Amino acid sequence: MDSTGFHYSRFSRHLHWGMAALFTWMFITTAVRVLLPDSALYDVLWPTHRPLGALLMLLVAVRLVWALVERSGRPPSVSLAASLGHKALYALMVAVPVLALLRQYGSGRAFSPFGIPLMPGFEGEAIEWMTAAGSNFHGLLGWMLLVMALGHAGMAIWHRHAGEEDVLARMVPRLGR
Ligand code: HEM
Ligand code: HEM
Repeated sequence: MDSTGFHYSRFSRHLHWGMAALFTWMFITTAVRVLLPDSALYDVLWPTHRPLGALLMLLVAVRLVWALVERSGRPPSVSLAASLGHKALYALMVAVPVLALLRQYGSGRAFSPFGIPLMPGFEGEAIEWMTAAGSNFHGLLGWMLLVMALGHAGMAIWHRHAGEEDVLARMVPRLGR
């Protein structure tokens, strides 16, 4: 179960790849929102953005706690840049859904992802600072997360093919050579 010095634990790997798939889905929904706003595809995909974003928030929290629990057993970072890059990914993975949920709460509208009554909503004025924080930064930081994640995936592949430390095998042990 634990991570070894050579690769991440099974649970860490499932979290990493499962969440990578969910983030990919989130960016597909946002791309459709920007590029095809009046399409049938939009009507099907966009409604999944909020509930799956809320699910990702939960998974991010689990992943953060798990990373702290396992901290000492994980493979060491290959460089300071890699270590800072992973920390920045964590910061964005937290900030992006937190800002959206803050806006959702502040709007006063009820929110029940997957039928679970997470926010009951309230009467009266919206809470300005919450809606403003979300509107100003959720999308912006969301796109930044996309750029960082693409750079991150690119670096992992580059490390493997440039004959450097094969970090990809840390997340996909059967690639180890
Ligand atoms: C955790 C993963 C999430 C990611 C990666 C993400 C990403 C994004 C991105 C990149 C945009 C910008 C689209 C544009 O420029 O038009 C966006 C918009 C939006 N997101 Fe998310 N989102 C996430 C979670 C959430 C959650 C949890 C909610 C609500 C509960 C939410 C609600 C919205 C809404 C209403 C918009 C349209 C308004 C705006 O651009 O801010 N998102 N999201
Ligand atoms: C095809 C896409 C991806 C590939 C090929 C990939 C590859 C990897 C590899 C090889 C590692 C281990 C690096 C090392 O130990 O030095 C890693 C770790 C990590 N990756 Fe990815 N990744 C991808 C997508 C993502 C996405 C979408 C996110 C976040 C939005 C992400 C966040 C992280 C984080 C935070 C770590 C540090 C270990 C952890 O806490 O889980 N990755 N990734």
